[in-house]
Amino acid sequence: MSLSPLASAGIEGLMAECNDCHGDDGVSQWTDVPTIAGLSVLVHEDALYIYADDARPCAKSEYRQGDTSRPAKTMCEIAAELSEDEIAEVAEAYAALPYVRAKQEFDADLAAAGKVVHDKQCDKCHSDEGTNPEDEAGMLGGQMMGYLRQSFEEYAAGTREQPKKMKEKMDLLSDDDVEALVHYYGSVQ
Ligand code: HEC
Ligand code: HEC
Repeated sequence: MSLSPLASAGIEGLMAECNDCHGDDGVSQWTDVPTIAGLSVLVHEDALYIYADDARPCAKSEYRQGDTSRPAKTMCEIAAELSEDEIAEVAEAYAALPYVRAKQEFDADLAAAGKVVHDKQCDKCHSDEGTNPEDEAGMLGGQMMGYLRQSFEEYAAGTREQPKKMKEKMDLLSDDDVEALVHYYGSVQ
């Protein structure tokens, strides 16, 4: 798809706003905010449509950089303001950017325990330590640990919808397994 200069200025302006929370080039430096660079187009578009429908928890978030005096906003509010074309363009633009694994502190023993659980229950759909965008299943390895922990909580509480086959695996996890998985994904650097 070729964009007119005006449209391309538009998408860049839009991405600048996203990056004021998600980090430069969509690579987060804040543990509660996910990196969105390198996310597959399908997963990214899906997430935005689900937020636009208010069908996924979305807490108010402050802007992390740029003009930080702007009022806090939720992902649901942000997604609801986007046109279908903007959703497609922004998802494609971030998919083209390199996924950068977060540098974060983790517990090596927990990470080792988490790897065992991952390899057994999750690797089938989240291959390459959960870093393969072609799985169309989000990015886990190297994703921000705070964001992952929150995602697990939302799945467990049933407030974020998940694939049925994934729920079967999630339901097998103890709280200790979940914490171990968070450290395992954090250890993928
Ligand atoms: C005010 C801060 C803020 C802005 C601006 C913002 N986001 Fe977010 N975004 C977040 C936070 C915080 C989360 C994670 C928590 C949640 O779901 O609310 C998130 C989650 C997401 C997710 C879910 C990732 C996943 O793997 O499921 C996507 C996709 C996303 N944002 C895309 C965007 C895009 C595209 C823009 C710009 C159009 C944008 N965001 C603007 C704060 C922001
Ligand atoms: C049958 C395939 C399948 C299995 C098995 C599976 N998942 Fe998933 N997972 C998916 C798909 C598809 C998505 C994307 C849909 C969504 O966001 O709900 C996803 C999304 C996720 C997300 C959210 C990613 C994000 O960007 O917010 C997390 C966290 C996750 N899976 C963890 C796990 C863990 C941990 C296991 C093993 C206990 C597991 N999954 C097993 C298919 C699977």
